[in-house]
Amino acid sequence: KHSNSISRTYTHPDTGKVIDYYDITIKPFEKQVYPNLGAAPMVGYDGMSPGPTFIMQQGREAVVRFSNQGTKDISVHVHGQYNRAPFDGWASDLAKIGEYKDYYYPNAQNARTIWYHDHAEYSTADGAYHGQAGFYILTDSHESSLGLPSGDYDVALGIESKLYNSDGALLFETNDNAGLWGDVIQVNGQPWPYLNVEPRKYRLRMLNGAISRAFNLSLTVGDPPEAVPFNVISSDCGLLSKPIPSSTLFMSMGERYDIIVDFSGLQGQNVTLENGKAVGDSPDYAATDRVMRFVVGDEVTNWDNNDDLPSTLREIPSPPNDSMADKDFTFERDTAGNWLINGIGFADVDNRILTKTPRGSVETWILKNGGVGTHPVHVHLVDFQIISREGGRDEVLPYESAGMKDTVYVSGGETVKVFARYAPWDGVYMFHCHNLIHEDHDMLTAMNISQLSE
Ligand code: C2O
Ligand code: CU
Repeated sequence: KHSNSISRTYTHPDTGKVIDYYDITIKPFEKQVYPNLGAAPMVGYDGMSPGPTFIMQQGREAVVRFSNQGTKDISVHVHGQYNRAPFDGWASDLAKIGEYKDYYYPNAQNARTIWYHDHAEYSTADGAYHGQAGFYILTDSHESSLGLPSGDYDVALGIESKLYNSDGALLFETNDNAGLWGDVIQVNGQPWPYLNVEPRKYRLRMLNGAISRAFNLSLTVGDPPEAVPFNVISSDCGLLSKPIPSSTLFMSMGERYDIIVDFSGLQGQNVTLENGKAVGDSPDYAATDRVMRFVVGDEVTNWDNNDDLPSTLREIPSPPNDSMADKDFTFERDTAGNWLINGIGFADVDNRILTKTPRGSVETWILKNGGVGTHPVHVHLVDFQIISREGGRDEVLPYESAGMKDTVYVSGGETVKVFARYAPWDGVYMFHCHNLIHEDHDMLTAMNISQLSE
């Protein structure tokens, strides 16, 4: 766990506010994954993957300079924060090799588990897959007052899937742009790792950082395996209204869920994080039914924040009864093999802004998956709520409906309705599929949030 350090602080001359300043250099490094093979060449934030973890406090603004000493053009997106449009990682706003860009981050929203990753046009998958991704954790005083497990008992786990060549380097193979499923599961850069834990409660901040794979996670212990239940407390945009007990957690790419797991009573045992979502019947992916292991020790060094969870966590705004507009977006592949939204992709420069929305308006978006293959749909800027699902799972899962989301899984043939308030900033923002291979080919479009007229 590396947490990032502030290089300097500034006091803004007009507002008197303190702004923290950070420096990050995107640079190549090598990662030895297989002891008997060569190292994998990668490119990461400060030469590591995952990148340094930002821990940001609500109300404290930050500027981060991202200097590109890597091997391709980059753009950086903080996924889950409302950034002003010029600092949101627009795919064509590139810092070329040798250049830098200073990004301003408001850190004004409620506590949430966010992540940052490359968003450069047509090469987002390449950037994230080869190392440009990291955690960005936003905290606030309300959440800190709830007595949730903290410090060593608050652990961020970024799950990915990779392919390796026999020389130990990563293999970037996209199956005719359908996706890269990966037969090696990694957590925070390590294949199938284990984590020593104490027999008490933990907060696990789960991120699906894979470029193309969804996971259906569960925890088991013993032989025969028995489920270890947990509570989901938080999703993409922060706390749920209340803890939701579950024994499975479905996560598509880009989604985050924080869970509370109680390892008490499991002293001396191994708890396995399993994945129930296979890739067809292919035996190549046989080992991807496991993700990692928790090795439960005998002693607890600190019992702080181990109490029963509060019965309510925060107020989630209830759906407005009359939204101003219903808009339809169909996610589909065309006959030429391009992934498109309403027939448009990012390369269609004149048409890629699909919708114009007055700032502050509330809209229901109808997200339709017109074909096969699944699309986790991510809308920048806003926190949305999932209203309904049809033609797939047919129900909004309890932990999906109890909170605010910025990414929603839409399976083949499924229609998902979401609503959001399009605020607080105006500007042009992206929305796209978070299968990053689809995004790059070319399932990435934009919305224009217009200024309020006087
Ligand atoms: Cu996580 Cu537009 O991306
Ligand atoms: Cu997709």
